[in-house]
Amino acid sequence: ECVYDKIWFYWGIEKIFGGMKMEVRIIGDPVLRKKAQAVNNFDDELEKFVEEMFSTMYLYEGVGLAAPQVGVSLRLFVMDSREENNKGKKVVINPEILEYLGEEVSEEEGCLSIPEIFEDVYRPEGVKVRYQDINGNVIEEELHGYQARIFQHEYDHLEGILFVDKISTLRKALIKKDLAKLSEKGKQRAKEIKKLGDEIKIWQKKMILG
Ligand code: NI
Repeated sequence: ECVYDKIWFYWGIEKIFGGMKMEVRIIGDPVLRKKAQAVNNFDDELEKFVEEMFSTMYLYEGVGLAAPQVGVSLRLFVMDSREENNKGKKVVINPEILEYLGEEVSEEEGCLSIPEIFEDVYRPEGVKVRYQDINGNVIEEELHGYQARIFQHEYDHLEGILFVDKISTLRKALIKKDLAKLSEKGKQRAKEIKKLGDEIKIWQKKMILG
């Protein structure tokens, strides 16, 4: 499947040369603003990809990570609210929010794609959701509190929405400069990643052609 090709190339090369995990994209990278596409193939590739997403999320000490954040524009995220018996650990594929529950509550949020910025965001306390698990089974459940918050934050990533879009006008004005700086960095890095991907393709072609 072509969506994976680029990431495998880049990720493979990073593993060989840098021993690094997937790279988390930073605000300013266009992939974070795209509406992601549905996942159709529930195969071994998907399983490998999800495993790597979990280890990347844990490496960065996040509680959620959406596929677009590692450059793959698919409707998929992983989350772990770090509860007993892995209760809050989920692979969420092709999610829908069926209903918002309870009152809007304000909590501080951060995002691996917007490092060092933490702001209060209002969101409904609970959500009724439907999604598929790693085997394609449909799950319907109600989430509340921290799990509901993570779910909504990650769901937004699949729509190209970032939490800083949802903060107050005053706070937006106050972090405008920091965001602009980050966005410039994210945009540059996206270009570098694309260039590296193209170079690897050329290099691969040469290898194949001998
Ligand atoms: Ni995020």
